[in-house]
Amino acid sequence: MTEPISPDQIRVLREFAEHLARSAGSLVREGRPARVDVAATKSSEVDPVTAMDLAAEAHLRALIAEHRPGDGILGEEDGLTPGSTGVTWVLDPIDGTVNYLYGVPAYAISVGVVVGEPDPAHWTPVAGAVHAVPLDVTYTAGRGQGATRDGEPLRVNPSRSLATSLVGTGFGYTVERRTVQARVLAELLPRVRDIRRIGSAALDLCRVAEGSLDVYFERGLNPWDLAAGQVIVREAGGAVTGLRGAEAGTAMTVAGAAESVTALTAILESLGADRDA
Ligand code: IPD
Repeated sequence: MTEPISPDQIRVLREFAEHLARSAGSLVREGRPARVDVAATKSSEVDPVTAMDLAAEAHLRALIAEHRPGDGILGEEDGLTPGSTGVTWVLDPIDGTVNYLYGVPAYAISVGVVVGEPDPAHWTPVAGAVHAVPLDVTYTAGRGQGATRDGEPLRVNPSRSLATSLVGTGFGYTVERRTVQARVLAELLPRVRDIRRIGSAALDLCRVAEGSLDVYFERGLNPWDLAAGQVIVREAGGAVTGLRGAEAGTAMTVAGAAESVTALTAILESLGADRDA
């Protein structure tokens, strides 16, 4: 897209993102077998893919190809299909696959819409929808148009001291990364109200947007974990950033009310939380 994206275009993209997330959500909810099997593993033996991750992404791709044939698609399972319009759909067909596998009710379909290069360092997120499958709850946002949970406006919690903040985080899948994350956690835990590891980055970001977490940080997010949640937090009045002046992305993502993010970012920088050794 060479021209700036208009409010009407953003409205249409947000509505379609919501339709996609709900539609894949029905597929995942209705198609969950009593016992879910691992179809393959990715970065390590504890990073699973199920048949439903693959089926849900195929479902989303087919709907986008039918209704918005010129747009690009970046999906967790099938990678990048470049488009010609400048708009890219960034898809996590099941965010929280380990929870899906075990029947822990915290997994979601995440559909983000970005313009520009589909890379968190360069993209502009313009719309997104996250559908929490077991709860049948849907979060959406459009750039400049606010964020909602099932139609109700969202607002992040006001900044408060880290000592009284509920902090969400997540862990990587490799031994090396987890070793550093354990060290960072040991330093952080005595300084905050408490820590939550929910198991779905998209839902962690939505929780920040609705105020059921104060702040969230994680090293190792992929673009599909972040695209929709990033715009939902920002449109709920929050900040989403990386460390040392970088954009949010794989190296680090920190989200929450602006002052809380500044305080947490300073601690994470001092602990070297964006390093793997
Ligand atoms: C994972 C979840 C998890 C986060 C990992 C992600 P997936 O996504 O969001 O909470 O800690 O970094 O990879 O693999 O379930 O789509």
